Amino acid sequence: MINRLKDKIIIITGGNGLLGKSIIERLTLEGAFCINFEINIECNDDLSNVYCDITDSDSIDKALALVFSKYPKVDGLVNNAYPRTKDWGTKFEEIELNSWKQNVDWQLNSYFYITQKVAIQMAEQKSGSIINMTSIYGVVGPDFSVYNGTSMTMPAAYSAIKGALVNFTRYVASYFGPQQIRINAVSPGGIFDNQNEVFIENYCNKVPLRRLGTPEDISPTVAFLLSDDSKYITGQNLIVDGGWTII
Ligand SMILES: NC(=O)c1ccc[n+]([C@@H]2O[C@H](COP(=O)([O-])OP(=O)(O)OC[C@H]3O[C@@H](n4cnc5c(N)ncnc54)[C@H](O)[C@@H]3O)[C@@H](O)[C@H]2O)c1
Repeated sequence: MINRLKDKIIIITGGNGLLGKSIIERLTLEGAFCINFEINIECNDDLSNVYCDITDSDSIDKALALVFSKYPKVDGLVNNAYPRTKDWGTKFEEIELNSWKQNVDWQLNSYFYITQKVAIQMAEQKSGSIINMTSIYGVVGPDFSVYNGTSMTMPAAYSAIKGALVNFTRYVASYFGPQQIRINAVSPGGIFDNQNEVFIENYCNKVPLRRLGTPEDISPTVAFLLSDDSKYITGQNLIVDGGWTII
């Protein structure tokens, strides 16, 4: 494994999840020190685990203050956490306005706040790379036929939130470019997670590579965008989807 992230200090939010675990594993293999900002975790001494509820700005402030009291700089931030309401996945006609608002606040506004705070610090350092985990559904509309024969659907707020994050990525990349901060998005397609068999079959029949993704399909892209191998790439949305969005 190439050591292209050697000595880089990288914060990743939601590092206990499906993609987060694989991203931490890959970044660590490439030499990074990862700091996992998680809601389901207790802080430890080296701060590889830090309690942080990204939906709470005070919690973000406290977690960042803790990191900056111990480490002089942060080289990377991966906005990956995925807070959602209990009714996430409700059919369009039945979505409550308050639920929509809550999800926008938790999944979009929280990414803004932590990005703002970390980018300000990176601007002082005159270096840094930020990744926003987005989705194919921030780029194209859902093909609802893949849910035929299942009770699954694609939540409407997801499209709005991820689409907003793709363009927010461009905004901050342009704004902080002169300070040598790069900000990119990674948009995965569907990831295998023991979903309903009918859904898997429908999905695989449509996607050109004929399979769902795995977390290990995604994490090398995140590592690449955090590394100097991508040092002239900013504001981009790298789509890792087995070809879903090309047809
Ligand atoms: N899994 C997929 O198919 C897929 C596809 C495209 C994009 N994505 C995106 O990738 C990212 C990760 O998705 P995942 O499937 O690994 O999600 P996941 O649900 O498996 O993990 C999310 C993690 O976020 C943590 N979290 C939740 N609320 C939090 C909060 N308030 N503060 C801090 N941490 C919190 C959870 O504890 C969990 O560890 C998300 O942004 C998601 O939209 C996932």
